[in-house]
Amino acid sequence: MNNPVGVFDSGVGGLSVLAALRAELPHERFVYFADTAFAPYGERGNAYVIERSRKVADQLIAEHGIKALVVACNTATTAAIHLLRAEHPALPIVGLEPALKPAVATSRTGHISVMATRGTLASAKYAALRDSFAGSANVRAVPCDGLVKAIEGFDTAAITELCARYMAEAGPFGDAPGQVDTVVLGCTHYPLVKDELQRHAPPALRFIDTGAPVAQQTRRVLSSLGRLAESGEGGLVLQGSGAPAVLEAAAAHWLQEPQDTSAPAATAA
Ligand code: DGL
Repeated sequence: MNNPVGVFDSGVGGLSVLAALRAELPHERFVYFADTAFAPYGERGNAYVIERSRKVADQLIAEHGIKALVVACNTATTAAIHLLRAEHPALPIVGLEPALKPAVATSRTGHISVMATRGTLASAKYAALRDSFAGSANVRAVPCDGLVKAIEGFDTAAITELCARYMAEAGPFGDAPGQVDTVVLGCTHYPLVKDELQRHAPPALRFIDTGAPVAQQTRRVLSSLGRLAESGEGGLVLQGSGAPAVLEAAAAHWLQEPQDTSAPAATAA
């Protein structure tokens, strides 16, 4: 099936997931929608995120006839994925959530910090995730207010300052008892600044994100429905509610590869 796979996020964060999707599924065509004009989602409450997620999903379906949707945003998954699935029962929808389960399974000290948006960490879905998988581990939630906005704005000074502040809250790091040895990046924007986060931690600190597992899950879902593209060049269309040139520059920067195609921006209204 040659229809594209839709991928969306509040902005550029989902590009960290898109990179994993393109590596895992090189023959697929993707449409990436960045809802930049309405970002960030994480500090605005459920009703707002639900409304935006619905509009973006509807636009991807109407304009591109997408064969599957990847919600490349923890905040939107938390707030809206159950509604999107109920409203589009024939469309396979893959979401993501903070990778607490693998973090608990592999942490040696049993001390884990979860960096995510305030919306994700305050949600009932996150509470259920923690109750299911934290076990006896000590799990600290670190809401990173402002970091998404700084990444969206290429604001290097703010990125530097906020990464330092939130890593100080996430630590102390190390392998000794009581120290945090694993940090879950529970927002798709944060892998984009992993090098900056890493500067405030010992080299052995483990960061866990969800790009690769989401890409593998998308492959399983497409394959089980007979919708996997198994030949062809694949492709990428970039679309969003913000300025197209900014999204193209962001994609070139964060994906670190030239873009093969692009589409004019269109507002999901
Ligand atoms: N990238 C998104 C996430 O994974 C959210 C960012 C936002 O606050 O808009 O949660």
